[in-house]
Parts: sequence; structure tokens; C-alpha cells
Amino acid sequence: MPEKIIDIDTLCHTFSDGYVGLKEICLSIYKGEFIILAGKNGSGKSTFLRHLNGLLMPDSGRILVNGREVSKHLVQTRKTVGMVFQDADTQIIGDTVFDEVAFGLENLKFNRAKINETVTRVLEDLNLFHLKDKNPSNLSGGEKRKLAIAGILVMDPEVIVFDEPFSNLDYPGTIQVLSTIVDLNKSGHTIIIATHDMETVICEATRLIIMENARIKQDGKPCDLIRCLESYGIKEPCSSKFGLGIQPWLT
Ligand SMILES: Nc1ncnc2c1ncn2[C@@H]1O[C@H](COP(=O)(O)OP(=O)(O)OP(=O)(O)O)[C@@H](O)[C@H]1O
Ligand SMILES: [Mg+2]
Repeated sequence: MPEKIIDIDTLCHTFSDGYVGLKEICLSIYKGEFIILAGKNGSGKSTFLRHLNGLLMPDSGRILVNGREVSKHLVQTRKTVGMVFQDADTQIIGDTVFDEVAFGLENLKFNRAKINETVTRVLEDLNLFHLKDKNPSNLSGGEKRKLAIAGILVMDPEVIVFDEPFSNLDYPGTIQVLSTIVDLNKSGHTIIIATHDMETVICEATRLIIMENARIKQDGKPCDLIRCLESYGIKEPCSSKFGLGIQPWLT
């Protein structure tokens, strides 16, 4: 049995305006899983993901990351769980692409040679190196997404959470981001992706979790749940509709 990395017990969240964002979420996540979190707009996916690294705190229930309660171990939690947000702009703080990616390592007081080596490798892996001196605000939407991923990858978290990583990406951008995510999973990282784009990623996933109205409604193998996606307002991949099951999107 793989090791448990995140354990969530009866997590509930109510926003300050009284809206109930999460209702009694119970879930265990194991090392090496590749999880898709699906559900209609407003079903609670981003709200849930934000609890995994302490950006939102539960009203009741608890979340353990590597056995430690998130609310009491924020720094350790954020080293373990990296988060690439739905809106890439919100993460940008550096004056150049290079500085932006180096920021987290500088905070951790890594030496300059190590920072240069790590940032260069990650920028090259994501095909961003030629943009290293550009102002991040001037990048395209897809480039900003890859920059946000680079900023997380340099920190080498065990779990990487992606909130809508494919939105606004063109075909090559989607391939590049998906290949990066698949490679990260192959190298042992646990992946959690909230997405509406089942077609692109379902073949790579080991587990599919479906949310509706702030609750988890389904949790199982993608092949067992694929036919019920549309009853939750999620588009079923064409291959499945045509009786061909789950087909790889990456060739
Ligand atoms: N700060 C907030 N205050 C009040 N309500 C909020 C807040 N943030 C989110 N909500 C509400 O919580 C619900 C869930 O939002 P959430 O962003 O988690 O949905 P989602 O599943 O990620 O949707 P999408 O697919 O559109 O990204 C929505 O109805 C939203 O309006
Ligand atoms: Mg969302």
C-alpha cells in the first residue's frame, strides 16, 4: 500500500458571507497518485485545493500533510504542497522571469550558484529560458502559466496542485504543460489537477474525484467513472462516447 501523504477528515468551510464552500470532505491522498478533481463551475474545487496548503483554513474538521496538521505547520506544509493557481497573474512578483522563478529559493537562502543552476534547469525544461530577462507582466497568458509552474518546480514540492492548468493554453502550450506534469508524476511527485478538460488529461490520471455543491460525490478510477461525468455537468471525452474508452491525448 502506498504511503498516505494527505489525510482530510470532515473538512467544512463557510465563507465570511455565510456561503458554504465545502461540506464534510473526507479523503486520503497517497504518494504518487495522479488525481483529477472535476466538477461544474462553483462546485468547490478551488476552495478545496486552497485548503491543501493552508491558503484557506477549515471551520471544522482537519487536514494532515505528512501527519502534521496544516493549520499548525504552515511553512512545512507549503514546502510539501506546491500550488499553481487558476489565475497565473496573482502569483507574479519578480521584475524579470529569472528573478520570479528564483524568488522562493532566495527566501530559503540558497547560495547564488545553486539558485542559478536550478532556475536555469527549470526554465530550460519548460522552454522559458529565452524569456529569462523579460518582465513577467508582459508575458502571454500561456507563458505566465508556465512561469507559475516554474516558480513551484524550483521548490521541488512532493505534491503539486494545479488549478485549471490548461485554460487559455494553445495546443503546443497544452502539450508542454501536460508533458511536464506527466514527467513530474513519473519522477514520484503526487499530482492533483482541477480541470474541466477531461479529454486532455484523463488517460494520465490514476484517480478521479467529482465534486458537486461543495461535496465529493464520486471518487474512483477514471475508467469506472467516465460514463457518469455528464450527469455532473462535465463533458465526457469523445473516445468514451464513441465506445473507445479512455484514449491517450499525448501521442
Ligand atoms: N471568498 C468567497 N466568499 C464567498 N463565496 C465564495 C468565495 N470564494 C468562492 N466562493 C463561492 O464558493 C463556490 C465555490 O467556488 P470555487 O471557486 O471553489 O469553485 P470551482 O469549483 O473552483 O469553480 P470553477 O470551475 O469556476 O473554477 C462558488 O459558488 C463561489 O462563488
Ligand atoms: Mg476554480
